[in-house]
Amino acid sequence: MDKNFYITTPIYYPSGKPHMGHAYSSIIADIFARFKRIEGYNVLFLTGTDEHGQKIQKEAEKNNKNPKQFCDEISETFRSLTKILNLTNDDFIRTTEQRHYKSVNEIWNRLIKSGDIYLDKYSGWYSVSDEAYYDEDEIIEKNGKKVSLSSGSQVEWVEEESYFFKLSAFQNKLLDHYKKNKDFILPQSRRNEVISFVKKGLKDLSISRTSFSWGIPVPDNKKHIIYVWLDALTNYLSALNFPNTNDIKYKSFWPANIHIIGKDILRFHAIFWPAFLIAAKLPLPKKVFGHGWILSDEKKMSKSLGNILDPIDIVNNYGIDQLRYYLVKEVSLGNDGSVSMENLKNCINNDLANNYGNLCQRVFSFIKKNCNSKIPKSKSLTTNDKKLIDNIKNNVQTLIGLINKQNLNEYIKMVVNFSFEANKYFNDSEPWKFKDKDPDRMNSILYTIVEQIKNISILLSPIIPISTKKVLNTINISDKDILIENIKKDNLLDNSKKLKDLDILFKKIENDN
Ligand code: ME8
Ligand code: MG
Repeated sequence: MDKNFYITTPIYYPSGKPHMGHAYSSIIADIFARFKRIEGYNVLFLTGTDEHGQKIQKEAEKNNKNPKQFCDEISETFRSLTKILNLTNDDFIRTTEQRHYKSVNEIWNRLIKSGDIYLDKYSGWYSVSDEAYYDEDEIIEKNGKKVSLSSGSQVEWVEEESYFFKLSAFQNKLLDHYKKNKDFILPQSRRNEVISFVKKGLKDLSISRTSFSWGIPVPDNKKHIIYVWLDALTNYLSALNFPNTNDIKYKSFWPANIHIIGKDILRFHAIFWPAFLIAAKLPLPKKVFGHGWILSDEKKMSKSLGNILDPIDIVNNYGIDQLRYYLVKEVSLGNDGSVSMENLKNCINNDLANNYGNLCQRVFSFIKKNCNSKIPKSKSLTTNDKKLIDNIKNNVQTLIGLINKQNLNEYIKMVVNFSFEANKYFNDSEPWKFKDKDPDRMNSILYTIVEQIKNISILLSPIIPISTKKVLNTINISDKDILIENIKKDNLLDNSKKLKDLDILFKKIENDN
């Protein structure tokens, strides 16, 4: 079986400081990366910054900085965000790096070689903010300004000499690929959108600009700068040491298993990118997953709208596991979802503090008090005990299946339910009653509940890695044993060692209004 797994986030524009939408994409990708690792895969998880183009050049000018210096500074804030969000990215790519130049040059040359590039003149609408060309029927007039229907950003008229990519020639190849690979674009609704867009016919795509200079020059015609999206998409290959297709990284990880992106950039990933790759005679990624938007007050959270919940503030005030859990619990992956401080607080209190947190704390303090701090051995389990334990074990394949379908919400629902059941089991079994009259029974109950805590913690570890590690370390399970396969093992609990101390897992949040 192929045990390598390559997952990517979009590479973000370092045009302003990172916001919740960026954090959301990155956290989702990190959860999948972590899950595949504990499933035993060799994972490569890539993120980074997309630093060329007119948008960045303009932003740098506004700040009186040269673009490279400007990018150096803001890219650093994105890099530090990976630490704040506790991401396990293996690499952080910047499109201003040498390795990326080499790879973009090779892609350009391959497209020339395949005969898919020609020189002509572009005239049409362009949005600098989206770095995208729009057709007449994709724009509307709003307050006397022409804006893109899909993003709302302003467009300007552009007329300049340009190289074109023969995108129109790829319509059938793309449709064929979508048809044969039902999972290439997910969720399904996004797939349908893309298919109907492509069915309407594709125009050739302008892939170079001449009116500014911040970008990768076209080989052999330095007057032209390569279109920033052709440049940016190639990052996924650059990180694998492409063009060296004999490189171990390229061989192990291309094609990518999944590109995680927001639905705003679906067209680039599901139409342009596969067309470029077909032309360059390279294999296509297996899946492009377009998640929905994080909304605040029902509007897309964005810098230009000024309705931003700052992820860094939330991490500082409530903790990173809390933010990670809240985002994936609250927003149904693939759909838009609103977030608010009030819901964040409720979620921390109900799911984390009262449910999982409470379960761990009460069980461990009971064991400390009544069992000399050691997990008791069980002489015999009742059907009821076994039923509880087996319910998780028997569902491991289902849970893996949910993750492989990016059904994070159903996954979390199941795991939270295990935790709820475990709490109920502890209450109903009343181990405190058996302390004197039947210590063996008390021991079996405690053994059962710790086994549940172990398994629930392994399952939650991709989502709330800091808290689950604390819990698992408390019961003397080391980091290398945090593996899905260890859910099935019942000899992982060490009865000879004392439980470690566990400080409070999730502070309950008082309502201040
Ligand atoms: O588009 N809700 O970069 P970008 C959810 N450089 N996700 C959001 C979001 C929101 N409100 N706002 C942003 C670019 N995102 C290009 C990508 S890839 C080769 C090049 C997330 O800085 C979402 O993943 O504008 C979206 O696709 C991405 O940030 C866009 O980030
Ligand atoms: Mg954007």
